[in-house]
Formats: sequence, structure tokens, C-alpha cells
Amino acid sequence: MLENRKILIGVTGSIAAYKAAILIRLLVKEQASVKVIMTPLAKEFITPLTLAALSKNPVLVDFYNPENGEWNNHVDLGMWADAYIIAPATANTIAKMANGIADNLLLTAYLSARCPVFVVPAMDMDMLSHPATQRNIERLKQYGSIILEPETGELASGLIGKGRMEEPDRIVDALGQHFNLKKKILSRLKDKKILVTAGPTREPIDAVRFVSNYSSGKMGYAIAEKLAYYGAKITLVSGPSDEKPASAGIKLKKVKTAAEMHRECIKVFGLMDGAILVAAVADYRPRHPSNEKIKRSKEKLIIELAENPDIAASLGAMKKKHQFLAGFALETQHGTENAMKKLIKKNFDFIVLNSLQDRGAGFESDTNKITILDKHNRIIEFPLKSKQEVAEDIVQYLQTII
Ligand code: PMT
Repeated sequence: MLENRKILIGVTGSIAAYKAAILIRLLVKEQASVKVIMTPLAKEFITPLTLAALSKNPVLVDFYNPENGEWNNHVDLGMWADAYIIAPATANTIAKMANGIADNLLLTAYLSARCPVFVVPAMDMDMLSHPATQRNIERLKQYGSIILEPETGELASGLIGKGRMEEPDRIVDALGQHFNLKKKILSRLKDKKILVTAGPTREPIDAVRFVSNYSSGKMGYAIAEKLAYYGAKITLVSGPSDEKPASAGIKLKKVKTAAEMHRECIKVFGLMDGAILVAAVADYRPRHPSNEKIKRSKEKLIIELAENPDIAASLGAMKKKHQFLAGFALETQHGTENAMKKLIKKNFDFIVLNSLQDRGAGFESDTNKITILDKHNRIIEFPLKSKQEVAEDIVQYLQTII
């Protein structure tokens, strides 16, 4: 599974740095291409010569070679790697990563890496359990890094506790499982045509005002990006949002109102393999929007609302056997019950529940906490994660049902 995989290893200044040598040897044995970056302090624990000999590549420490001025381009390294493993990762490096500090090559490569990043902490148990370290680890998870939890055992300090770096063979296993799963998802999603809706809709009151909601589009765009990453061809119908698609595999159609979103979705759904409806569509619109700006007056202003089309229900009615349809449920109370009702009413195959009762979930934030409920009455709960990670969880679930 690791044959020809390009693995970048980052080694930091820890007594566990010797395990990096074993890790590199195992990866090379698996026929992966390995490059190594060390922090300056890591050289005090193990020599670059050892790691260069094992990886069969020069080890990089500085931004440039002082002998000839040759630049070690961290962006190229970040782009080269299929996975970046920081092992061992000290509390200091984890703190810098969590805060975007870029004062050595290992950290700049982390900031420019587009590949999955595995962080393998190694430190004393008190350092690990300190709230600052725990907060930094949580933040890295939210950025999408995969943390390989330290083991419990005898530590360099002589104390017994949690903090020992994960064993190299287990790191190799985790990496293999990761690539296996990616391969499976790729094979299921490649070239699938998927409609994604995102963002809010705006329903005009007059020439300058509208009814809308707090949706930023972050969740929907993250799902579109994730699906495109796995090779799906995405039509993204989006209400007003500052988000911008980065992948070439995403065709963006911008709309403003629910009626426009409805029209675009109906037009393309027949050509799709499925749809994920993330948009926060306004259920009502002002019945008689004014073309002019409504002037302030002493009179009471009453705006009559008319019901908007239910896009999900329309697509649910159109859905063919080979297509899947998924939606979101944004709830403030009785989440599971309401989500289940929507799943049935809109003919969804699964629904993603997010509740405004959960801190960090729902509108605008970079994080979300979801529960997936499906038509087979399965209920899968996830912890609070970054919206990118949530998108990965949804895509991993999706590949099991298509
Ligand atoms: O955009 P962000 O700031 O990142 O926030 C993300 C989010 C909170 C908007 C997102 O995670 C979310 O919950 N989206 C659905 C919000 C919503 O409108 O939920 P709902 O329970 O009212 O609707 C249920 C489903 O029907 C949704 O899939 C919705 O897209 C769809 N719907 C609703 C009304 C309507 N007229 N047409 C629809 O298609």
C-alpha cells in the first residue's frame, strides 16, 4: 500500500527521535520514497547523517544551504508529499503549529502542506495533560491533522504515564489504513456527478433589504471541495457567500433567492448521480417585494410572507433509483426527532443533523458537530471538528452507501 508513496517525515527535538530512524527504515522497506526535515534541536538527539543514510535522501534542516546558498523550498516539499508525518512532535512544535509560527523549515513545510498531516506527540505526561498542550492538539485536529495518540508507559523522565511516542510499526499501519481508505473512496467517487447546495438565500423586501439567515457557505463549500478532491464532478449551486471554490472539479452557479436555487437544482438534478443539500434556504419570502426602497413612516409596516419552494422535497420526488439524496437539518430542539421527520418527508437517503444547542456547531463557525441519520435508522454521532473534517466524515459515510 505504501509503494511509491511520497512520505515527508518531520523530526523534532525529543528523546524519542531515535524512533524516527526505525520509522524511516520501515517506510523504505515498504518501498515508500522518504524525505526528512529536522528541527535544529533534533540534530542534538540523532544525526542527520543517520537519517539521510536510512531515507536515502539528504536531510533538510535549514532554509538554505550555507555552502552554496541553495534554497530548500518548503512549498515544493509540501506539494511533493502524499503524507507528512511529524514524529516525534514535541509540545513546543505542536504549540507553534497550532499558532501558525513558522521559524524553521519543518513548520513552514507544515503550513504549506496540502497532504494529510499525521502528528505523533512525544513528551512528558504532565506536559501532555497541560491544558495548553491539550488545547493546541485540539486545534491541530480542527485544522484537519491526524493525531496518533501517545502511549502510556515509562517516560524518559522515569515517570510512568501517557506521553510515549506511538511505535513506528503502528504509525506505518495507520498510514497504510489511511491510504487504503482513500483509495476506496476514490474508486467510489471518481467522476460521479454530484449537486451540492450551499450558503443562504436572500429574499428581497424592497430594492435594498432582504430576509436571510446567517449561513456563510463554509459547510457546503467544504463538502464540495472534499468531493472534488476524491474526483467527483461537482455542480455547486450557492447563495451569496464569500467562499470561493479552489478545485477545478467544481462548477459554481451563483444564485440569490430560493426560487433561483430551486430552478437551478431542478434543471441539473436529472443529470446527477446524487445531491447533498447544505444550503440554508429561506422557507418564506416577502409576498410583494417593492422595486423601490420603502420609506420610513409612522404607519405600522407589515410584511406578508409567502412560502418558498422546498428544493429538497422537489428533488426527493424526482429521485431515481440510481441517485442518492442527502440533506442537512439545522435544529434548535428535538434534533433527532425533527431530523428523522425531514429524512422521511424529503425522501433523503441520509440527513446530517447539526444543532444550535452545540457550541461551535452550525452557522458561520469553522467547526461543526454532526450526527448522521439514515433511512435504515442508523444514527452515527461525531465530535466537534473542523468543517473540513466534517466534510471528510460525510464523504466517508457516503462512499458506504453508493
Ligand atoms: O453555511 P455555514 O455557515 O457553514 O452553516 C452551515 C449550515 C448550518 C447552514 C448547514 O450545516 C446546515 O445545517 N444547512 C441546512 C440548513 C437548513 O435550512 O436546514 P433545514 O432543517 O431548515 O432544512 C432541511 C433540508 O431541506 C436542508 O437540506 C435544506 O437545504 C433543505 N431545504 C430547506 C428549505 C427549502 N425551502 N428547501 C430546501 O431544500
